[in-house]
Amino acid sequence: MHFLNTALLAAASLAGSAFAHSEVTLGSVGPTNAMLFLNGFHFISGNSSQEIQANHYCAIMNDDFIQCTVYMPGSNPMRLAGVEYIISGAAFEKLPWEEKQLWHSHQFEVTSGFLVEPNLPPNVDHAIMEILVGTYGKTFHTWPYASKGSDIPIGIPELVMGFTGDGQMSKKFQKTRDRMFGTDTNKIRKSRLDINAPPVLDGADSWRYGYTLNLGLTNVTAEPPF
Ligand SMILES: *[C@@H]1O[C@H](CO)[C@@H](O)[C@H](O)[C@H]1NC(C)=O
Ligand SMILES: *[C@@H]1O[C@H](CO)[C@@H](O)[C@H](O)[C@H]1NC(C)=O
Repeated sequence: MHFLNTALLAAASLAGSAFAHSEVTLGSVGPTNAMLFLNGFHFISGNSSQEIQANHYCAIMNDDFIQCTVYMPGSNPMRLAGVEYIISGAAFEKLPWEEKQLWHSHQFEVTSGFLVEPNLPPNVDHAIMEILVGTYGKTFHTWPYASKGSDIPIGIPELVMGFTGDGQMSKKFQKTRDRMFGTDTNKIRKSRLDINAPPVLDGADSWRYGYTLNLGLTNVTAEPPF
């Protein structure tokens, strides 16, 4: 399956001159000349009530791989929250079992309308979402949730996950996002009813197996090397 380079750029061309009036830069940045802006939600692995809104600025690396910096909308100047790597289902399938467990699925994020591309023409958004629905993300937030009230990130990076069903994220959070970006998540969700979401592959969203994965800092007694 052709993934991003080909498919996203084809999707972009669908919009034709609409991009000239779009605030989203597509086709001008990134190692392979493509840029994608996504807004969505994450939660801290191990505590689903720690919800975070995330702006992703993504460069398309190759047919199976996108890399994104993640910023926190609502902060001004906008804070760097972390990174997300996005891969195709085909690339995900080849990962070792333990590695798979660090990744989250994008099926529900897409079909729910949670994942949006503010300012993109709807037909382009739809074409891109048909591709993203089968992808997986691995995200580490370098700005810890507990220091969201601080001017400086305190603590170590955190693994975050994505929501996979209704009732998991607070409605208030969705409303805040919709107000911020002028989006209508429910309407977007309806417009994506025809998107065929492949089943979530084993290993992703590993919290469903009854354990949660968290990062830790190791502190080992050792002779100073210098
Ligand atoms: C989960 O996060 C919420 C919000 O930060 C916090 O109040 C609660 O204590 C956390 N729960 C656990 C089990 O850490
Ligand atoms: C690492 O452990 C030493 C004691 O073994 C302690 O003095 C030091 O503060 C610890 N550092 C961190 C970052 O936990």
